[in-house]
Amino acid sequence: MTGQTTFDELDELARRAAALDAADPLAAHRDAFLTPPEVVSYLDGNSLGRPLRATRERLARFVEEEWGGRLIRGWDEGWMDAPTELGDLLARTTLGAAPGQTVVADSTTVLIYKLVRAAADARPDRREVVVDTGNFPTDRFVAEGVAAERGLVLRWIEPDPATGVTVDDVRAVVGPETTLVLLSHVAYRSGVVADLPAITDVVHEAGALVLWDLCHSVGALELALDEDLVDLAVGCTYKYLNGGPGAPAFAYVAERLHGSIRQPIQGWMGAADPFAMGERYEPARGIRQLVSGTPPIVGMLPVRDMLALIGAAGMPAVREKSVALTSYALEVADRLLLPLGVRLASPRDPARRGSHITLDHPDFRAATADLWRRGVIPDFRPPDGLRIGLSPLSTSFAEVLAGLTAVRDVLCAGRTA
Ligand SMILES: Cc1ncc(COP(=O)(O)O)c(C=O)c1O
Repeated sequence: MTGQTTFDELDELARRAAALDAADPLAAHRDAFLTPPEVVSYLDGNSLGRPLRATRERLARFVEEEWGGRLIRGWDEGWMDAPTELGDLLARTTLGAAPGQTVVADSTTVLIYKLVRAAADARPDRREVVVDTGNFPTDRFVAEGVAAERGLVLRWIEPDPATGVTVDDVRAVVGPETTLVLLSHVAYRSGVVADLPAITDVVHEAGALVLWDLCHSVGALELALDEDLVDLAVGCTYKYLNGGPGAPAFAYVAERLHGSIRQPIQGWMGAADPFAMGERYEPARGIRQLVSGTPPIVGMLPVRDMLALIGAAGMPAVREKSVALTSYALEVADRLLLPLGVRLASPRDPARRGSHITLDHPDFRAATADLWRRGVIPDFRPPDGLRIGLSPLSTSFAEVLAGLTAVRDVLCAGRTA
């Protein structure tokens, strides 16, 4: 193959993109986002979602009216309950979870720490935590830290990158010593979707708990945490929930575990009566106990806007658009990029794919800087992966084509340079 694309091929891809955009029932929602003209193609909404226009107004209003106007009184007028109130809204809109089980607080890393520790401490007779080598660094690092702190043994799964962690991988390592299995639902590099319901069942058959990292699924894939009997889950809000840089994370603890789980960072805001200023820590009842310090109220504001938008669109439609976007990206990659020696590192089966695809090529590290200069913004994941993240509500099919055409141009320019 020469890697040459004919004008007819590009024209056909452009016509497909236009037809897909015209038929997209969610297309109108793209206007709800801020889209600076110099950004030709934003392919990184799986890392940091775009801001909503409504958020710009909400933040200004908050400074003026709520913070500026109500001052300290704001704590009695809603801020105090925000971690659980927003948690319930997030749970209803995106997690398939009943109220009272989700809290918004901290960062994903801190919440993983709290839940790994809590799960390990809940079953002191069991000493093994299962993790996988393909998981995001923070998950692995936290598990290593807790293992060192509590004298636990880590059992590592080394998944085939093409399949991600499978049910059989998990079945092979869990047993009477397992206290917790920590996995990502959507693999951060390949976008492979793990079989959450089946793996959760296998973990339960071994008498252990499962903690799912939902960073790359929340707001992009349909979730049914209650129905699937998930024990514990965490996720961030700055990707598909468009919470902005450093927005707080969320944690879900199934109600049946509330009596037996105790998180290690005992702060006054998770105490039964924070303003009693008591001598001893008495945990709040229910999910509130997960809170440690003062809730990040400002960081929660943008998430409210995105949840409202997702609520209006509906998660089934969001997932459908996500599948259509990644399918079209594959179609374009097949035509424009695979002939140039680019390899697909994500599943072809849409049911097994999250909302991003990863393409591998040895020149991608250098190409990324060039793409960013052209206003085409994917991200690079070592050793040679270009991650094409397609946030369903803010991305058009034409944008996908513009971005991947630029990837082709940069690769071709590198060859002739
Ligand atoms: C799977 C996964 N877990 C955790 C994190 C990050 O954790 P934190 O929000 O604490 O930075 C990321 C960030 O991209 C991620 O992809």
